[in-house]
Amino acid sequence: MDHFQLKDGVLHAEDVPLTAIAEAAGTPTYIYSTATLERHVRVFREGLGDLPDPWIAFAVKANPNKAVLATLARLGLGADVVSGGELRRALAAGVPAEKIVFSGVGKTAGEMALGLKAGIGQFNLESEPEAETLSAVAQSLGMTARVSFRVNPDVDAGTHAKISTGKAENKFGVPIDRALAAYEAAAKLLGLTIQGVAVHIGSQLTDLAPSCAAFQRIGALIAELRAAGHSITHADLGGGLGVPYDPALPLPPSPADYGAMVREVTAGWDVRLIFEPGRVIVGNAGILLTRVIRVKQGVTQPFVIVDAAMNDLLRPSLYEAWHNVRAVQPNGESFTATIVGPVCETGDTFARDRPMDRVQEGDLVAFMTAGAYGATMASTYNSRGLTPEVIVSQDKWAIVRERQPIEALIAADSLPPWIEEQA
Ligand code: LLP
Repeated sequence: MDHFQLKDGVLHAEDVPLTAIAEAAGTPTYIYSTATLERHVRVFREGLGDLPDPWIAFAVKANPNKAVLATLARLGLGADVVSGGELRRALAAGVPAEKIVFSGVGKTAGEMALGLKAGIGQFNLESEPEAETLSAVAQSLGMTARVSFRVNPDVDAGTHAKISTGKAENKFGVPIDRALAAYEAAAKLLGLTIQGVAVHIGSQLTDLAPSCAAFQRIGALIAELRAAGHSITHADLGGGLGVPYDPALPLPPSPADYGAMVREVTAGWDVRLIFEPGRVIVGNAGILLTRVIRVKQGVTQPFVIVDAAMNDLLRPSLYEAWHNVRAVQPNGESFTATIVGPVCETGDTFARDRPMDRVQEGDLVAFMTAGAYGATMASTYNSRGLTPEVIVSQDKWAIVRERQPIEALIAADSLPPWIEEQA
């Protein structure tokens, strides 16, 4: 459930008509709903049920906007970060350092130092050499890092290949068969305190079975590690729960289904569980609002050319992702169209042969479920400035990132000394 609903024939974000935002902020624009964020956090927490003190670290990569992070921080969420930049954003948005987990396959020594100095709660190590580097950095600072190894359980998550991370051939984590040896080696390193095990098998998971299989392997590993004398107090189960994109498809497992599975598999583990949800918290809390530039008749069907493009919302081109398309002021008619952006690539196509509300030049259209991996994956391709972001709370709304003006893009480049600046 989200808070983007029709009221008096106009699509609203909570109590704000999208027409008003388009008029004041222009298009394309990302719009987030505070009430939906709050609802998703509550539903995720409730789904975990009576798990003792779960540590919910929002996957910042899904939506790093400071207003979104601050909203989630106020609801008590921590952060899962994968770069020094995300770490700084999380801290700047008010996420307490001890609630931050640092994931990522290529942390640099500089990023490790940043995390150590901030006092983050856990580093998820992805390899044995990474453990050695972190040990060296921690010793040089006279500090101790709390660590888990991210273990690759060799499970097929059954999702799109580009967002699948838990198969042996993927770059992520330490292969589960080598995990004990990795812990044995890390235990001998100074500056590290081993506190747990971490796993994440992929994103937009619509079947609980692969996660369940992965968690069972982690449970067996925890027993094995404890038998070898390691103290395991935490288990990080990653993120990945899918969200409904297409209302015509069966619903993915709910947070309650997920929580029940987790409680069953982890019963008796005697650890504090960490979760890294991203999409399930922000996906349906955001939309991309765009305006129809013109409708062009193709050979077989109309092309609806909108002012958003693949640089603003990359998911359809990169993953063949399906986003629902809604007219902001539907007139009751529908047609089948192909919706494209102005960028000079065939891949700049949001939807092909899509039955949708009939729209015409000047109409506003919303791409739904764009709150996760939307604005954050944007680029300036075709010299299009980054899209602004707006957050709504009841009848209030605010621009929380301004549209990037083309002047800023041009000013970011400079000329070499052998070319003179034109007057
Ligand atoms: N934890 C780790 C270690 C991750 O790599 C990810 C996502 C998450 C948590 C959060 O997963 P979520 O709950 O959001 O599924 N750009 C792609 C998704 C990439 C996901 C990368 N890792 C997309 O637009 O579908």
